[in-house]
Amino acid sequence: MRLKEKTVVVTGAAGGMGSATVRRLLEEGANVLATDLHDNMYKDGAMEGSLHLVEADLTDENQVKEVVDAAIEVFGGIDCLVNVAGMAQPARPVEDIPTSFWEKIMTVNTTSVFYTCREVAPLMKKQGSGVIINVASIAAERARPGLSAYIASKGAVVSFTKALAIELACDGIRVNAINPGPSDTGMLGEFTGAVVDASKRDEFKESVPLGELVEPIDIANAVVFLCSDESRMTTGAVFNIDGGRGL
Ligand SMILES: NC(=O)c1ccc[n+]([C@@H]2O[C@H](COP(=O)([O-])OP(=O)(O)OC[C@H]3O[C@@H](n4cnc5c(N)ncnc54)[C@H](O)[C@@H]3O)[C@@H](O)[C@H]2O)c1
Repeated sequence: MRLKEKTVVVTGAAGGMGSATVRRLLEEGANVLATDLHDNMYKDGAMEGSLHLVEADLTDENQVKEVVDAAIEVFGGIDCLVNVAGMAQPARPVEDIPTSFWEKIMTVNTTSVFYTCREVAPLMKKQGSGVIINVASIAAERARPGLSAYIASKGAVVSFTKALAIELACDGIRVNAINPGPSDTGMLGEFTGAVVDASKRDEFKESVPLGELVEPIDIANAVVFLCSDESRMTTGAVFNIDGGRGL
Protein backbone atom coordinates (compact mmCIF):
# COMPACT_ATOMS: atom_id res chain seq x y z
CA MET A 1 0.00 0.00 0.00
CA ARG A 2 2.72 2.45 -1.03
CA LEU A 3 0.24 4.85 -2.62
CA LYS A 4 -2.58 4.84 -0.11
CA GLU A 5 -4.67 7.99 -0.35
CA LYS A 6 -2.89 9.21 -3.48
CA THR A 7 -4.96 9.99 -6.58
CA VAL A 8 -3.39 9.11 -9.92
CA VAL A 9 -4.64 9.93 -13.42
CA VAL A 10 -3.49 7.37 -16.00
CA THR A 11 -3.89 7.99 -19.76
CA GLY A 12 -3.78 5.21 -22.33
CA ALA A 13 -5.41 3.07 -19.67
CA ALA A 14 -6.97 0.60 -22.09
CA GLY A 15 -3.58 -0.24 -23.63
CA GLY A 16 -0.96 -2.79 -22.66
CA MET A 17 1.21 -0.64 -20.40
CA GLY A 18 -1.65 1.58 -19.27
CA SER A 19 -3.82 -1.28 -18.02
CA ALA A 20 -0.88 -2.92 -16.20
CA THR A 21 -0.15 0.46 -14.62
CA VAL A 22 -3.74 0.92 -13.45
CA ARG A 23 -3.72 -2.57 -11.93
CA ARG A 24 -0.45 -1.98 -10.02
CA LEU A 25 -1.56 1.44 -8.77
CA LEU A 26 -4.80 -0.06 -7.43
CA GLU A 27 -2.81 -2.83 -5.72
CA GLU A 28 -0.78 -0.12 -3.99
CA GLY A 29 -3.92 1.53 -2.67
CA ALA A 30 -4.16 4.53 -5.02
CA ASN A 31 -7.38 6.10 -6.26
CA VAL A 32 -7.12 5.84 -10.04
CA LEU A 33 -8.81 7.86 -12.74
CA ALA A 34 -8.21 5.82 -15.89
CA THR A 35 -8.80 7.40 -19.27
CA ASP A 36 -8.59 6.26 -22.88
CA LEU A 37 -10.29 6.71 -26.23
CA HIS A 38 -12.19 3.48 -25.74
CA ASP A 39 -14.97 2.84 -23.31
CA ASN A 40 -14.06 -0.84 -23.06
CA MET A 41 -11.71 -0.32 -20.13
CA TYR A 42 -12.04 -2.89 -17.38
CA LYS A 43 -15.72 -3.58 -17.74
CA ASP A 44 -14.88 -7.20 -16.89
CA GLY A 45 -14.78 -6.21 -13.24
CA ALA A 46 -11.29 -7.72 -12.87
CA MET A 47 -9.98 -4.53 -11.32
CA GLU A 48 -10.46 -4.09 -7.62
CA GLY A 49 -10.09 -0.79 -5.81
CA SER A 50 -10.97 2.83 -6.15
CA LEU A 51 -11.26 3.22 -9.92
CA HIS A 52 -13.08 5.75 -12.08
CA LEU A 53 -13.17 5.50 -15.87
CA VAL A 54 -13.45 8.41 -18.30
CA GLU A 55 -13.56 8.02 -22.07
CA ALA A 56 -11.73 10.90 -23.75
CA ASP A 57 -9.69 11.88 -26.78
CA LEU A 58 -6.64 13.62 -25.33
CA THR A 59 -5.94 15.49 -28.56
CA ASP A 60 -8.97 17.64 -27.69
CA GLU A 61 -8.06 20.14 -24.97
CA ASN A 62 -11.68 20.45 -23.82
CA GLN A 63 -11.84 16.70 -23.21
CA VAL A 64 -8.55 16.86 -21.30
CA LYS A 65 -10.10 19.49 -19.04
CA GLU A 66 -13.09 17.17 -18.48
CA VAL A 67 -10.75 14.36 -17.42
CA VAL A 68 -9.00 16.58 -14.87
CA ASP A 69 -12.32 18.00 -13.62
CA ALA A 70 -13.66 14.46 -13.18
CA ALA A 71 -10.65 13.46 -11.05
CA ILE A 72 -11.13 16.50 -8.85
CA GLU A 73 -14.86 15.87 -8.55
CA VAL A 74 -14.57 12.15 -7.79
CA PHE A 75 -11.39 12.04 -5.73
CA GLY A 76 -10.90 15.64 -4.57
CA GLY A 77 -7.57 16.33 -6.27
CA ILE A 78 -4.73 14.85 -8.31
CA ASP A 79 -1.41 13.78 -6.79
CA CYS A 80 0.07 12.13 -9.88
CA LEU A 81 -0.42 12.27 -13.63
CA VAL A 82 0.87 9.37 -15.71
CA ASN A 83 0.87 9.98 -19.46
CA VAL A 84 0.96 6.57 -21.14
CA ALA A 85 -1.25 7.16 -24.21
CA GLY A 86 0.49 7.11 -27.54
CA MET A 87 0.50 5.77 -31.09
CA ALA A 88 3.08 4.02 -33.25
CA GLN A 89 4.49 4.72 -36.69
CA PRO A 90 4.50 1.95 -39.26
CA ALA A 91 8.17 1.91 -40.34
CA ARG A 92 8.77 3.83 -43.58
CA PRO A 93 11.34 6.19 -45.14
CA VAL A 94 11.02 9.88 -44.33
CA GLU A 95 10.04 10.77 -47.90
CA ASP A 96 6.98 8.52 -47.59
CA ILE A 97 5.54 10.23 -44.52
CA PRO A 98 2.52 12.38 -45.39
CA THR A 99 2.25 15.71 -43.59
CA SER A 100 -1.10 14.57 -42.17
CA PHE A 101 0.59 11.59 -40.47
CA TRP A 102 3.40 13.77 -39.06
CA GLU A 103 0.83 16.17 -37.62
CA LYS A 104 -1.27 13.35 -36.21
CA ILE A 105 1.57 11.59 -34.39
CA MET A 106 2.88 14.87 -32.98
CA THR A 107 -0.63 15.69 -31.73
CA VAL A 108 -1.28 12.28 -30.17
CA ASN A 109 2.18 11.67 -28.69
CA THR A 110 3.33 15.20 -27.84
CA THR A 111 0.55 17.80 -27.82
CA SER A 112 -1.69 15.58 -25.65
CA VAL A 113 1.11 15.46 -23.04
CA PHE A 114 1.35 19.25 -23.16
CA TYR A 115 -2.44 19.50 -22.67
CA THR A 116 -2.56 17.18 -19.64
CA CYS A 117 0.49 18.76 -17.98
CA ARG A 118 -0.83 22.27 -18.59
CA GLU A 119 -4.16 21.30 -17.06
CA VAL A 120 -2.75 19.77 -13.84
CA ALA A 121 0.08 22.25 -13.22
CA PRO A 122 -2.04 25.01 -11.56
CA LEU A 123 -3.72 22.45 -9.29
CA MET A 124 -0.42 20.87 -8.26
CA LYS A 125 1.10 24.33 -7.70
CA LYS A 126 -1.78 25.17 -5.37
CA GLN A 127 -1.20 21.89 -3.50
CA GLY A 128 2.55 22.56 -3.36
CA SER A 129 3.16 18.99 -4.52
CA GLY A 130 2.63 16.62 -7.40
CA VAL A 131 4.20 14.03 -9.66
CA ILE A 132 4.08 13.87 -13.45
CA ILE A 133 5.37 10.86 -15.38
CA ASN A 134 5.56 10.90 -19.17
CA VAL A 135 6.10 7.70 -21.13
CA ALA A 136 8.40 8.37 -24.10
CA SER A 137 10.51 5.65 -25.80
CA ILE A 138 14.05 4.34 -25.81
CA ALA A 139 13.97 5.09 -29.54
CA ALA A 140 14.29 8.77 -28.60
CA GLU A 141 17.70 7.96 -27.12
CA ARG A 142 18.82 5.29 -29.58
CA ALA A 143 17.18 5.96 -32.94
CA ARG A 144 16.32 3.22 -35.43
CA PRO A 145 15.63 3.68 -39.17
CA GLY A 146 12.11 4.19 -40.46
CA LEU A 147 10.60 5.68 -37.31
CA SER A 148 11.55 9.34 -37.67
CA ALA A 149 8.13 10.87 -36.93
CA TYR A 150 7.58 8.62 -33.89
CA ILE A 151 11.08 9.31 -32.58
CA ALA A 152 10.67 13.09 -33.04
CA SER A 153 7.38 12.98 -31.12
CA LYS A 154 8.96 11.05 -28.24
CA GLY A 155 12.14 13.15 -28.21
CA ALA A 156 9.92 16.18 -27.70
CA VAL A 157 8.27 14.43 -24.74
CA VAL A 158 11.66 13.85 -23.10
CA SER A 159 12.72 17.49 -23.64
CA PHE A 160 9.37 18.78 -22.40
CA THR A 161 9.69 16.56 -19.29
CA LYS A 162 13.08 18.09 -18.44
CA ALA A 163 11.81 21.62 -19.12
CA LEU A 164 8.86 21.11 -16.77
CA ALA A 165 11.05 19.45 -14.13
CA ILE A 166 13.16 22.59 -13.75
CA GLU A 167 10.19 24.94 -14.10
CA LEU A 168 8.04 23.19 -11.49
CA ALA A 169 10.70 22.08 -8.98
CA CYS A 170 10.19 25.23 -6.90
CA ASP A 171 6.52 24.24 -6.50
CA GLY A 172 7.39 20.79 -5.14
CA ILE A 173 6.31 19.08 -8.36
CA ARG A 174 8.47 16.25 -9.71
CA VAL A 175 8.44 15.47 -13.44
CA ASN A 176 10.10 12.36 -14.86
CA ALA A 177 10.08 10.32 -18.06
CA ILE A 178 10.15 6.58 -18.71
CA ASN A 179 11.67 5.21 -21.90
CA PRO A 180 10.31 1.71 -22.49
CA GLY A 181 12.09 -0.75 -24.74
CA PRO A 182 10.14 -3.08 -27.05
CA SER A 183 7.13 -4.58 -25.30
CA ASP A 184 4.69 -7.13 -26.65
CA THR A 185 1.58 -4.96 -26.46
CA GLY A 186 -0.79 -4.23 -29.34
CA MET A 187 1.62 -1.49 -30.36
CA LEU A 188 4.55 -3.74 -31.30
CA GLY A 189 2.89 -5.00 -34.49
CA GLU A 190 1.97 -1.43 -35.45
CA PHE A 191 5.66 -0.53 -35.76
CA THR A 192 6.36 -3.44 -38.08
CA GLY A 193 3.06 -3.34 -39.94
CA ALA A 194 2.95 -7.13 -39.48
CA VAL A 195 1.63 -9.68 -37.05
CA VAL A 196 4.19 -10.24 -34.32
CA ASP A 197 4.65 -14.01 -34.56
CA ALA A 198 7.24 -16.10 -32.73
CA SER A 199 10.08 -15.35 -35.16
CA LYS A 200 9.38 -11.60 -35.13
CA ARG A 201 9.23 -11.73 -31.34
CA ASP A 202 12.63 -13.48 -31.31
CA GLU A 203 14.02 -10.73 -33.56
CA PHE A 204 12.89 -8.07 -31.07
CA LYS A 205 14.29 -10.07 -28.16
CA GLU A 206 17.66 -10.32 -29.86
CA SER A 207 17.80 -6.52 -30.05
CA VAL A 208 17.56 -6.35 -26.25
CA PRO A 209 20.83 -7.05 -24.40
CA LEU A 210 18.97 -8.66 -21.47
CA GLY A 211 17.37 -11.00 -24.02
CA GLU A 212 13.71 -10.45 -23.13
CA LEU A 213 10.95 -8.13 -24.23
CA VAL A 214 9.85 -5.55 -21.69
CA GLU A 215 6.69 -6.60 -19.88
CA PRO A 216 4.00 -3.96 -19.20
CA ILE A 217 4.40 -4.76 -15.50
CA ASP A 218 8.04 -3.55 -15.70
CA ILE A 219 6.75 -0.13 -16.72
CA ALA A 220 4.00 -0.26 -14.09
CA ASN A 221 6.54 -1.00 -11.34
CA ALA A 222 8.64 2.01 -12.38
CA VAL A 223 5.50 4.17 -12.30
CA VAL A 224 4.71 3.02 -8.75
CA PHE A 225 8.23 3.95 -7.61
CA LEU A 226 8.11 7.36 -9.33
CA CYS A 227 4.64 8.13 -7.90
CA SER A 228 5.69 7.15 -4.39
CA ASP A 229 7.64 9.19 -1.87
CA GLU A 230 10.48 6.66 -2.27
CA SER A 231 11.54 8.77 -5.26
CA ARG A 232 11.10 12.11 -3.47
CA MET A 233 14.47 13.43 -4.74
CA THR A 234 14.03 12.24 -8.33
CA THR A 235 13.04 14.85 -10.90
CA GLY A 236 14.04 15.50 -14.50
CA ALA A 237 15.15 11.87 -14.71
CA VAL A 238 14.68 9.58 -17.68
CA PHE A 239 14.30 5.94 -16.65
CA ASN A 240 15.25 3.55 -19.43
CA ILE A 241 13.19 0.42 -18.78
CA ASP A 242 14.52 -1.26 -21.88
CA GLY A 243 16.64 -4.27 -21.00
CA GLY A 244 19.68 -2.32 -22.24
CA ARG A 245 18.32 -1.65 -25.74
CA GLY A 246 19.53 1.95 -25.50
CA LEU A 247 23.15 0.93 -24.97
N1 LIG B 1 5.00 -1.25 -26.91
C1 LIG B 1 6.23 -0.83 -27.15
O1 LIG B 1 7.08 -1.56 -27.67
C2 LIG B 1 6.63 0.59 -26.74
C3 LIG B 1 8.01 0.92 -26.75
C4 LIG B 1 8.39 2.19 -26.38
C5 LIG B 1 7.44 3.13 -25.97
N2 LIG B 1 6.11 2.78 -25.98
C6 LIG B 1 5.17 3.82 -25.53
O2 LIG B 1 4.50 3.33 -24.39
C7 LIG B 1 3.17 3.89 -24.31
C8 LIG B 1 2.17 2.76 -24.11
O3 LIG B 1 2.22 1.89 -25.22
P1 LIG B 1 1.54 0.46 -25.25
O4 LIG B 1 2.58 -0.47 -25.74
O5 LIG B 1 0.81 0.19 -24.00
O6 LIG B 1 0.53 0.70 -26.49
P2 LIG B 1 -1.01 0.41 -26.66
O7 LIG B 1 -1.31 0.66 -28.10
O8 LIG B 1 -1.36 -0.91 -26.08
O9 LIG B 1 -1.69 1.56 -25.77
C9 LIG B 1 -1.75 2.91 -26.14
C10 LIG B 1 -3.10 3.47 -25.69
O10 LIG B 1 -3.15 4.87 -25.97
C11 LIG B 1 -4.48 5.17 -26.34
N3 LIG B 1 -4.59 6.39 -27.13
C12 LIG B 1 -4.08 6.61 -28.36
N4 LIG B 1 -4.45 7.83 -28.79
C13 LIG B 1 -5.21 8.40 -27.82
C14 LIG B 1 -5.90 9.62 -27.71
N5 LIG B 1 -5.90 10.53 -28.70
N6 LIG B 1 -6.60 9.88 -26.57
C15 LIG B 1 -6.63 8.95 -25.58
N7 LIG B 1 -5.99 7.76 -25.62
C16 LIG B 1 -5.30 7.48 -26.75
C17 LIG B 1 -4.92 3.97 -27.19
O11 LIG B 1 -6.33 3.88 -27.30
C18 LIG B 1 -4.29 2.80 -26.44
O12 LIG B 1 -5.20 2.21 -25.51
C19 LIG B 1 2.98 4.67 -25.62
O13 LIG B 1 3.17 6.05 -25.38
C20 LIG B 1 4.06 4.12 -26.52
O14 LIG B 1 4.46 5.03 -27.51
C21 LIG B 1 5.70 1.54 -26.34
